[in-house]
Amino acid sequence: MSKRTLILGAGAAGMMAAVHAGPGVLVIDHAKRPGEKIRISGGGRCNFTNLHCDAGAFLGQNPHFHKSALARYTQWDFIELVDRHGIDWHEKTLGQLFCDGKATQIVAMLLDEMQKAGAELWLSTRVESVRHTEGRFVTRLRKDGQDIEIQSENLILATGGKSIPAMGATGLSYDIARQFGHAVTDLRPALVPMTFDKGRFAELSGLSCPARVAGGGASFDEGLLFTHRGLSGPAILQVSSYWHEGEEIAVNLFPETDIAGSLRDRRRQEGKRALTTELATHLPNRLIAFLGAETDLTGNLGDLSDRRIDALTTALTDWRLKPTGTEGYRTAEVTLGGIETDGFDSRSMMSKTVPGLFAIGECLDVTGWLGGYNFQWAWASGVAAGRAI
Ligand code: FDA
Repeated sequence: MSKRTLILGAGAAGMMAAVHAGPGVLVIDHAKRPGEKIRISGGGRCNFTNLHCDAGAFLGQNPHFHKSALARYTQWDFIELVDRHGIDWHEKTLGQLFCDGKATQIVAMLLDEMQKAGAELWLSTRVESVRHTEGRFVTRLRKDGQDIEIQSENLILATGGKSIPAMGATGLSYDIARQFGHAVTDLRPALVPMTFDKGRFAELSGLSCPARVAGGGASFDEGLLFTHRGLSGPAILQVSSYWHEGEEIAVNLFPETDIAGSLRDRRRQEGKRALTTELATHLPNRLIAFLGAETDLTGNLGDLSDRRIDALTTALTDWRLKPTGTEGYRTAEVTLGGIETDGFDSRSMMSKTVPGLFAIGECLDVTGWLGGYNFQWAWASGVAAGRAI
């Protein structure tokens, strides 16, 4: 069977490319349903883009590669599409846009657009092999117990990264890229909770508070969540993309408050007030009790020397913690690293060495921050490849 364009992966990027790639498009996926990660994303409401999407919110060996596609298909373009489909949305925080209803509305929107564009979709379809002969890709597929050979002018790699293998994530795009001579960077789980020695934060499990978390040269002011296994919450997930095994992270529990100045003022005004009572105006009681086992929090404000206030300030604003690792691909939202972008054209997402071969979305070495950035990259890179075909 002959097709103009074969797209491997009916996820965010693959479906978006199918909408824009013109006639003769077949999208295949080994899953039973398309866009499964869209469905579960954003707690089932899909954080589909970010109002403040800009190039600085992305990591990758080449810090410029993603700029062109993101500039030519912006968050406003995607919002316009969502609006056109009558999908209601809201900004949750920090420019993050979520559906008011279900994430499946986004999947339905993409399927509708694909249908209008005339793209065909085959689910429960396995890729057996890919060859490139006489300028055409020959892909052997297995569907409904049958072997089917597809010849295509274009082949788009869009099978995403390695995160959440239980949902069917595989390294197929990496393998095919390597087969065609492209390099793949080191890969590691990102936007992922961090683990600590067993039980380190177990008694705080479920507790959250605002914090500034720094690690690997980056720092984020967002929520911090204590879990049975360690630390999570947006601030930790963000830093996990920068952190390397063996490094410490620094947690500031007073990102918005000059705690040293505040303790000095309160010492003058209310010397008889217990230090823990004062801290409880800023932090949850369970956390104060926990910190009290590590740092001396006894006594009244009037008893505090300047030196003790300084030591306390360091303990509370530069709390050094050494993760043992992360929860890995089992729970990571994305894979950091991917197919090296230097081998691809940043305008079209086409291979510089194999004409007709494209890579889009998470399988490339472009990783966004938490907050809708990864979907915006999937949409933008998908559109870039589609338009180039
Ligand atoms: P994606 O993973 O979407 O699609 C790849 C497709 O390829 C899948 O349909 C898969 O079945 C298929 N496939 C894989 N291997 C195959 C094989 N061997 N053969 C055939 N098909 C194969 N981002 C964001 O911006 N906002 C958010 O709210 C969230 N939330 C979120 C929650 C959770 C739990 C996760 C795991 C991830 C997120 N993300 C996110 C990240 C976001 O889901 C991710 O960046 C995009 O889905 C990437 O889009 P792709 O199309 O590249 O891959």
